[in-house]
Amino acid sequence: DWITKGHLGVYGQTRSGKTSFVLRLIKSAVDNDPPARFVIYDRYGEYSPLIDAGYGVSLGYDSFLSGAISPDEIALRLGLDPKSSAFRDVKTAIETLMDKGTEVTPETILEELEEIKMRSDVKGRVEYILKSPRARKELKVLSQGEREEANLIKLLKENPVVVIDFSIDADIGRQQIAFSHIVGKLFTRAVATRGEEFTCINVIEEAQFFAPERGMPTYGNPWENGSLTVLSMGVSQLGGYNVGFIVMTQRPAYVAKAVLAQCNTHICFRLMSSADHDQVSGVTGYSIWRLREILPNLETHVGFLMGAASPFWFPVFCETELWEYPRKATKTASQLLREMYSE
Ligand SMILES: Nc1ncnc2c1ncn2[C@@H]1O[C@H](COP(=O)(O)OP(=O)(O)OP(=O)(O)O)[C@@H](O)[C@H]1O
Ligand SMILES: [Mg+2]
Repeated sequence: DWITKGHLGVYGQTRSGKTSFVLRLIKSAVDNDPPARFVIYDRYGEYSPLIDAGYGVSLGYDSFLSGAISPDEIALRLGLDPKSSAFRDVKTAIETLMDKGTEVTPETILEELEEIKMRSDVKGRVEYILKSPRARKELKVLSQGEREEANLIKLLKENPVVVIDFSIDADIGRQQIAFSHIVGKLFTRAVATRGEEFTCINVIEEAQFFAPERGMPTYGNPWENGSLTVLSMGVSQLGGYNVGFIVMTQRPAYVAKAVLAQCNTHICFRLMSSADHDQVSGVTGYSIWRLREILPNLETHVGFLMGAASPFWFPVFCETELWEYPRKATKTASQLLREMYSE
């Protein structure tokens, strides 16, 4: 209940034990009666042990995309500046085509643009963009609109675990659009039904990809694609509607404070950078000096747990009872080196 209404932040550098901990947490919660429900945004395809154990289903993130791409997003993804007149014209042309039920291709957009009096230099540039192979690929996504979009709420009612696989490609912009769309839909439905139709916990690996802190490294376009907004709104509003979040990151300093500060419970695995200690201190209120002493020295799979979901009113060390490792390489580098030399 506390994670669902109050969210959990999970921090720790690479190989510190975050995913192993969350896998174990999910297994325990799903073995409960009644089983808890999870939506996992799986960036690297690591959560398949849950599927293999029969806890649920896994779908590529693109199963949730059809219908998600708006004319705005297409124009943006064609590389047009949202403040330019070219952007407005192309967007209008796509809207008109969609309204008429005409297929949106580079050719049909160009035909539609003929109706509009564009400046010749702008027109030249738009033509150049539309005739590129990239444009054809982006527009293909739109024409797949007839394919039926997977229904997450229905899937959640049938399966304790729904894994959304983001490892099928590395198109972070498109992944952010899908993420905004999926969480946006959960948001609308949860609020519309006053949080009394369904409940689930969303597990978000590498949250810095969806909700980066201003001034920190960013990937894709989290501002225009809506992923930052939807996650900030989600953690600030959805707890009250029985939709929780587990926000995971290797670098808490890179994730928006607006998101982390809404987590009522935090578990920190090994963290060595002082920027990360500062961020954890900032969002937990726990002493920076204590964190600097404790966090760099944590053993793998040992976390420092603080907050409301813990039965203790003081921070405690917590060791993961391993169930399954995440699906990553099982051989060590030295084993591989030996094999490479013997070949
Ligand atoms: N397949 C495996 N076989 C053996 N040990 C593993 C395996 N996967 C993980 N481990 C061990 O568990 C430790 C923690 O792994 P885990 O993947 O849970 O960390 P993580 O914090 O999620 O890392 P990352 O941020 O890189 O995903 C590793 O250092 C390693 O010792
Ligand atoms: Mg991991």
